[in-house]
Amino acid sequence: MKKEVRKVVIAGNWKMNMTPSEAAKAVKETAELTAGKNGCDVVLCVPFVDIAVAAEAAKGTNVKIGAQNVHFEAKGAYTGECSASMLLEAGAEYVIIGHSERRQYFGETDETVNKRTKAALAAGLKVILCLGEVLEERQAGITAEIVSMQTKLDLAGISAEDLKNVIIAYEPVWAIGTGLTATPDQAEEVCAIIRNVVCGLYGCEAAEALTIQYGGSMNDGNAAELLSKVNVDGGLIGGASLVPAKFAKIVDAAQA
Ligand code: PGA
Repeated sequence: MKKEVRKVVIAGNWKMNMTPSEAAKAVKETAELTAGKNGCDVVLCVPFVDIAVAAEAAKGTNVKIGAQNVHFEAKGAYTGECSASMLLEAGAEYVIIGHSERRQYFGETDETVNKRTKAALAAGLKVILCLGEVLEERQAGITAEIVSMQTKLDLAGISAEDLKNVIIAYEPVWAIGTGLTATPDQAEEVCAIIRNVVCGLYGCEAAEALTIQYGGSMNDGNAAELLSKVNVDGGLIGGASLVPAKFAKIVDAAQA
């Protein structure tokens, strides 16, 4: 296992928080606090309406901007959705796809996650693909089967070349926004399982190069230990990303 061969990425997921003016301020603060911290990539995934101002505020800094969802069609009668080209032109470089809140509240399935991922990659966005088990699945001892199946279905038909623009975020659903964090060993175990599945699909060299984040109540107190694990290459951070000082501490923890 060679962590040196892959990029560590610390990404904030603001969810449905921050108006455009708040976003501009928070991006600037985050950029100031994380300036020169080149040991990881720093990304903030913001609501659609914040992308343009966030991208403007991030110009010339090490902060990159992402969206939180994308539609798979290029344009048309899909009320409430945004296409990949819209996100790119507004200034997004990344997009989160398949977040558990999308799966839970908005009917996202592995099939639509796969379609959105393909469309995003084809347009030139980098994808943060989220997957993970719910509490009942962990309690039933089927976490490995669930994340393996999600990995295979979500990546179906995606080329090895396109995989280079994919980050997988392992997010145990029971740990998201609950204050319950997976232990570093639990995070490591499942990230290694995902890497192993990717090795079977694309070969182990591609799997070794894949960034796999952990997400779920990661904060400035537990980040260092989680990130010290060989298969945990970063974090997708919800609540703690809303406070630039806290988020910056997680970026600090990723410099080691
Ligand atoms: P949390 O959210 O850090 O607030 O648990 C993580 C996520 O949903 O990506």
